[in-house]
Amino acid sequence: MQNDYSESLVVHFRRVEALREQALELPAIDLTARQLCDLELLLNRGYYPLRGFMTRKEYDSVLSGMRLPDGTVWPVPICLDVDGQTAEGIVTGDRIALNDQEGFLLAVLTVSDIWKPDKELEARTVLGTDCATEHPGVIQLLNRTSEYYLGGSLEGVSLPVHYDFKHLRLSPSETVRSFTMNGWRRVLGFHADDYLHCAHREMVLNAAREVQAAIFMQPVAEFSHPGNLDYYTRIRCYQAFTDTFPQNMIKLGLTPFVSRKAGPREALWQAVVRKNFGCSHFMVAEDHADPFINGEDSRRYYPRGAAQGLVAEMARETGIEMVPQREIGYNTAQKKYVFLSDNNDKAISTITSAGLRRKLANGEDIPPWFSCPEIVEELRYAFPPKSRQGFTVFMTGLSGSGKSTIARVLLVKFMEMRDRPVTLLDGDIVRKNLSSELDFSREHRDLNITRIGFVASEITKNGGIALCAPIAPYEESRQKNRELISAYGGYIEVYVATPLEVCEQRDRKGLYAKARSGRIKGVTGITDPYIPPSNPELTIDTSAITPMEAVQEILLYLQGEGYIE
Ligand code: PPS
Repeated sequence: MQNDYSESLVVHFRRVEALREQALELPAIDLTARQLCDLELLLNRGYYPLRGFMTRKEYDSVLSGMRLPDGTVWPVPICLDVDGQTAEGIVTGDRIALNDQEGFLLAVLTVSDIWKPDKELEARTVLGTDCATEHPGVIQLLNRTSEYYLGGSLEGVSLPVHYDFKHLRLSPSETVRSFTMNGWRRVLGFHADDYLHCAHREMVLNAAREVQAAIFMQPVAEFSHPGNLDYYTRIRCYQAFTDTFPQNMIKLGLTPFVSRKAGPREALWQAVVRKNFGCSHFMVAEDHADPFINGEDSRRYYPRGAAQGLVAEMARETGIEMVPQREIGYNTAQKKYVFLSDNNDKAISTITSAGLRRKLANGEDIPPWFSCPEIVEELRYAFPPKSRQGFTVFMTGLSGSGKSTIARVLLVKFMEMRDRPVTLLDGDIVRKNLSSELDFSREHRDLNITRIGFVASEITKNGGIALCAPIAPYEESRQKNRELISAYGGYIEVYVATPLEVCEQRDRKGLYAKARSGRIKGVTGITDPYIPPSNPELTIDTSAITPMEAVQEILLYLQGEGYIE
C-alpha cells in the first residue's frame, strides 16, 4: 500500500494492469474537463495531503474551519460531483472507474461517502455569497455543478494526457527536483492567468529580490477550449516573458488549476498548492481571485487586502510566506518603473487590457516601456489589425431581393484584391451541398443557418472572407451566428430590404408564381414569415440601386471599419 508521503497517487505498473482488468467490470464515470483538473492535482500530489476526493467529514470541516479534520489548513472543497441518477446507482464501498472524456481509464475511486451538499451554504462559506446572478464561482457551483458529491480514496492509473506544452506540465516532485538542481532554496510562487508585460516583470523581480528568492511562475493551463488561440498565445507570451529575466532566476510551469474565484480562501488554497510545488513564498494581490462585479474594478466581492491578510496569517502553519503584490507604473518623466503606492504623480502611464486590444486592432504602436517586442509580436499574430482579420458578410433578405447577385459581385471584387481567401456560401449552393436533406420548415431553416454560421466562423477564424447569402428569415439564428462569428473576426450583417412586390415581379425562378397558385407551400414572404434584422450594419434596397452600387456601399463600409484598405 502507498503511504501518505508518496510523490504520486499513480500506482505501480503491475497494479495498473490489474486495475485496467478490474475496471472492465466497474461502473465508470467520464469526468468533465473541470473534474479532470482536480483529479490531476490529486494524482500528482499538487493537492497533498489529500488522497482522494473529500469525504463528507473533510468537506464539512473545510467549510466550517478551513481545515481538514486533522487540523491541516485546507480552505476549498475538492469534491466529485455526480447527478442523481449516477448517485442512486452507487453505494459506499463501491469502486468506480474514472475516465477522461474519451473513456481512457485514469483512476479507480473507492467510494466512502455519497451525499447531497447544501450548495447555498457552500457558496456562502467558501465564496462569501450565494448570489447566482453575477459571481462566476457561485454560478458554477449552483447552476453547473451536479447535485451529489462522492468522496473516497484514489488509485491512479495514469495522469490525464496533454498534448499542449508538455515540457511545461511539471508535477510537484519534478518541479522540486529542478529547484534543487538549480540550487534554489527560496522560491517565490507567482500565479498568472492574464497577459504579463514590463510592469509585471518589474513587480515580480522587485518582490523576488526583496525576499532573495528565485521565481516559479505557474500560469493556469486551459481546460475547456483546446482550440483556443488566446490560450496558446498567452502561454507563448509567458515563455517570451520568462526569457527577459536574468539567467537562473525564473522557472515556468503550467498547472491545470480551475479557479473558484473564492478571493481570500482561494489565495490561501493557491498558497498551499504552491507549497506543494516546492515554493517558500507566494505572491498575493490585494484583490486576489476576486471576480469583480461585471468585471468592474471598483465593484469588489472581497475586502481589499483580505486575501493578503489571510495568507499571511496562516503562513506559520502552511509553511509558505505571503509576499504582497505591489502595483507598479511607468513614470514617463523619469523613464522608469515606480511603485504606485509611493508615487501619486500624473506622469504615471499605463495601458489597460481593453486599451491594448484596441491598439492591436487598429495596428497602432505599442510603446517599448509597456511590453517587450517578442510579446508584442505574439500578440500581433493572435490579435491582428482589422485589415488582417477574417470577416463575414452575411446578407439576408427575401428570395429575389438581390443577395446572390451582390454576393457574386463581392466575390469578384475580393478575388481581384487578393488579400484574403474568399468563400461564397450562397443559399442555393448550401442547399445543394451542406443542407441537401433539409426542407423549409422553421426547424430546418434554423439548422441551415446554423450550419452556414459554423462554416463562416471557421473561415473567419482562419483569416478568410465568408460571403453568405441565405434568406435567413429568423432573428434568433442570425443572432447566434453574429455571436459565434464576432468572437473570431468581423461580422457585417447586410439586410437586403428589397420589397416583396419587386422580388415577386422579378420572380426569376417562378417561386412566387408557384406559391400564389398554391403549388408550393411555406414560401418566405407569401405563406412563411420573414423577420427583418433588428440591427443590421447595412440596409440595401436593390429596387433603387444597381448591384454594383450596392457592392460599392458594402466596400465603403468595410473600408470605414478598417477591414479593407
Ligand atoms: S433559408 O430560409 O435561409 O433556409 O432559405 P435558403 O437556404 O436561403 O434557400 C432559399 C432558396 O431556396 C428556394 N426555395 C425556397 N425559398 C423560400 N421558401 C421556400 N419554401 C422555398 N422553396 C425553395 C428559393 O429559390 C431560394 O433561393 P434564393 O436564391 O433565395 O432565391
